[in-house]
Formats: sequence, C-alpha cells, structure tokens
Amino acid sequence: MIRVLFVCLGNICRSPTAHGVFQKIIDDQNLSHLFQVDSAGTAAWHIGKTPDPRSQTAAQLRQYDLSGLSARQVEPEDFEKFDYILAMDHENLHNLQKICPSEYQSKLSLFLSFSDMNEDEVPDPYYGGAGGFERVLDLVESASLGFLKELTPGSKA
Ligand code: 4NP
Repeated sequence: MIRVLFVCLGNICRSPTAHGVFQKIIDDQNLSHLFQVDSAGTAAWHIGKTPDPRSQTAAQLRQYDLSGLSARQVEPEDFEKFDYILAMDHENLHNLQKICPSEYQSKLSLFLSFSDMNEDEVPDPYYGGAGGFERVLDLVESASLGFLKELTPGSKA
C-alpha cells in the first residue's frame, strides 16, 4: 500500500483537486487497491468544508467528483503515516519542512516535480477567475500521470 497525501494551503481548491484526479486515474486503471490517497491543508481556516464550488464545477466537467471530500489540516501523525507528501507550491513545501520530523523530510516534495510541464508550482486559484481552476486541473492531471508512471512503470499512465 502506497500512502499519498496532497497538500495545499486551504485544502479546498488545489489539494482536493489532486486528490480527486489521482483517485479517478487509479480507479480507472484498477490500481486503487495499491494506494491510500488523502489531502490536507497547512492552514486551518476551512476545516470541515467541502471543496470550493468553483473547483468542484471545473472538476465535474472533466468527470472528477470532489463532492465527498472535506477539508482538514495537516497533523503531526501524517508525516509518519504517509509515504509521499506532495505540496502544491514552494510555500506549502516550506511550511511542511518546518514542522516535519527530520527522519521524514525525504517524504516531502513538490507535486509538480512529477510533471513534464516545466512549472514547479500549482498557482493558488482562490482569488482569481475561472481560468485558474482550469490551470489547476491541467497541471494536476499532468503531475498525477507522471507520479503514477514513476511508481508503477507498467501502468498506462
Ligand atoms: P487552496 O486555495 O490552498 O488551493 O485550497 C486556497 C483556499 C483558501 C484560501 C487561500 C487559498 N484562503 O485564503 O482562504
């Protein structure tokens, strides 16, 4: 079982999108028995909320269902529990590095390090227009496929 945690700031836009996209990709390839997928935010503001309606709408148009997710904050136990802790941007990564025990630091990385799109951050779409949510999906789809390919070289990703 490979345990994967996607992390952004609020856990209502980018990381739930990554959670839903990656989950659907592994479901569609009958690989979900190999993974445990979750997402969390570094901030506490939106604990208990479902993903932002703009993220849900954009995701739904690409057949991803985010409606069952609810926001939570990163907890100290996450660093032991998860194998891969994938941050959406440098600030999230830096904030994780500050609270992660030294023996687990190697679990932390930028999610887009698995993408071939030549960008290293998923930009925060919260205060922008609809295009930002499409961009999140484009980047997250690319990185999800790259991540799966790296972990399961025989997959169709
Ligand atoms: P996320 O987006 O980190 O992708 O979930 C944000 C959500 C909420 C806020 C900022 C970013 N906020 O300032 O409340």
